[in-house]
Formats: sequence, structure tokens, C-alpha cells
Amino acid sequence: MSILDKHGVLERNATLLLIFSFLVVTIGGLVQIVPLFYLENTIEDVEGMRPYTPLELAGRDIYVREGCYVCHSQMIRPMRDEVERYGHYSLAAESQYDHPFQWGSKRTGPDLARVGGRYSDEWHIDHLTDPQSVVPESVMPKYGFLDARLIDGEHVQDLLKTHRMVGVPYTDEMIENAWSDFTVQADPDKDYDGLLERYGDTVNVRNFDRRPGITEMDALVAYLQMLGTLVDFSTFTPDASR
Ligand code: HEC
Repeated sequence: MSILDKHGVLERNATLLLIFSFLVVTIGGLVQIVPLFYLENTIEDVEGMRPYTPLELAGRDIYVREGCYVCHSQMIRPMRDEVERYGHYSLAAESQYDHPFQWGSKRTGPDLARVGGRYSDEWHIDHLTDPQSVVPESVMPKYGFLDARLIDGEHVQDLLKTHRMVGVPYTDEMIENAWSDFTVQADPDKDYDGLLERYGDTVNVRNFDRRPGITEMDALVAYLQMLGTLVDFSTFTPDASR
């Protein structure tokens, strides 16, 4: 009698079947979970990823406050139709500074993970102010009030500190200069060399909404225009050793 014939014993005895099923699931689980504890990092380091600038971070808070994530995802899946529509599939590293992450769970509108640079600032402002004026069939609500709300950046330093507490690598210098970096990004007449030194040359510096003062619209558009633009995919090769 071979070992396979003894299978019948297991199938006829419920208690034995339960014990053996439990064993099999336990071993399978351990094989999957244990290696994760020995990996130093499950997120592949990717060149170009940087912490968000204070203005982008403020914009991200508005994105969360207004519930944009309820209708928009920020996670491009590695499937052909998604990659053709939205661009390179999302990498874990691209959300590593997101607390909380913005993957979303529903798409009433399109994915926004790579919307940065796809439209002009004017388009975004027209669209946020009155989505139906640019996309007549849109069901997106109007957010024109953001244009009238000034933000003084009073709490932006605390915001950076809080993100550092949960692991975002803001340097002391970034924290010290949080408020000035916040104000110069939307005002190219000021000296913004320090901002570029700290966050890189690719930071968008301009008066996004063309109005005096920093409005919530400035911050939100600065955030949207950065999305998906940090990693240079022409130089990216996935690390197959992981
Ligand atoms: C009720 C659902 C809903 C909410 C909430 C919503 N949107 Fe949308 N959004 C849509 C739909 C539907 C579209 C597609 C039609 C259009 O372009 O207006 C869209 C399109 C967009 C686009 C254009 C994307 C592209 O690739 O063409 C952007 C950018 C955008 N939304 C940003 C936002 C932001 C920022 C917020 C929060 C302030 C927000 N949306 C809130 C439904 C929503």
C-alpha cells in the first residue's frame, strides 16, 4: 500500500483532516511570512523619490480633507490596459512618503498617480473651479472656493515634524526652513535657491493660481503637478533580485 492510498484515512476522519489542514496552512504561512522579517527593506529604493515640499504637503492635506481619494485612486496596476492609459505601473517607493497612503479603493474619476505635468496649471484651476466647463459630462464637484482661501503656513513646520516622526526623512534644515520654503514655491520673485537645494531642481516654482498670496488652490495644484513626476522611468530598471 503506497502512501497515497492512506489518503482515505484522512478523508474519513474529520479530526485528523482538521489537524493536517492546520499543519499545511501553518507551514505555508510561515514560508510566506518569515522571509519578510529578514529583509531589511521591502521597498526597493528608487532614484528621484524625495519627501514632498512643504507646499506640496499642504496641498496633499487639502486633497485628503476634500475627500478626492473617494473618487480617485493613486495606484496604477501592472496590467496592460492601465499601463497604456496611465503610464508605468506604480512602485511601492512612490507611496513611501504618503501618510496615510492614497491608493484609494474606487475610481469614479481616473487614477491620478501620474497626473503631474499632464495638464497646465490653468487647466487644473478651470477644472477644479468648474469641472463641467472643461469636461461637460463630468460628475466631479466644484472646488472653486479653494481660490479664495489663503493659507499662512503657520502650522507647516509642525506638519513636517509630524511626518518625520512617522519616518519621512526630513532633515533639520528642511524643518528649519519649512515656512520660507512654503512661501517661495508659489512666488518665483523671491529667492528660491534654498528650496531647490533641499528638494532638487525639478521642484515646480511658480504662482500656480496667478493670484496674490498663497491659496489652497496653489497648494493643491502644486501637489497635483508633482504627482508621478519624481521617478525618471527612462532610467529605471526593476531590481529582479528581490
Ligand atoms: C464625486 C467624485 C469625484 C470627486 C470627489 C473628485 N473627483 Fe476628480 N474627477 C472625477 C471624475 C468623474 C473625473 C473625470 C471627468 C473630469 O475630468 O472631470 C475627474 C477628473 C479629475 C482630474 C483629471 C484627471 C485626468 O487624468 O484627466 C483631476 C486632476 C481631478 N479629477 C482631481 C480631483 C481633485 C484634486 C479632487 C478633490 C479636490 C477631486 N478630483 C474630487 C470625480 C471626482
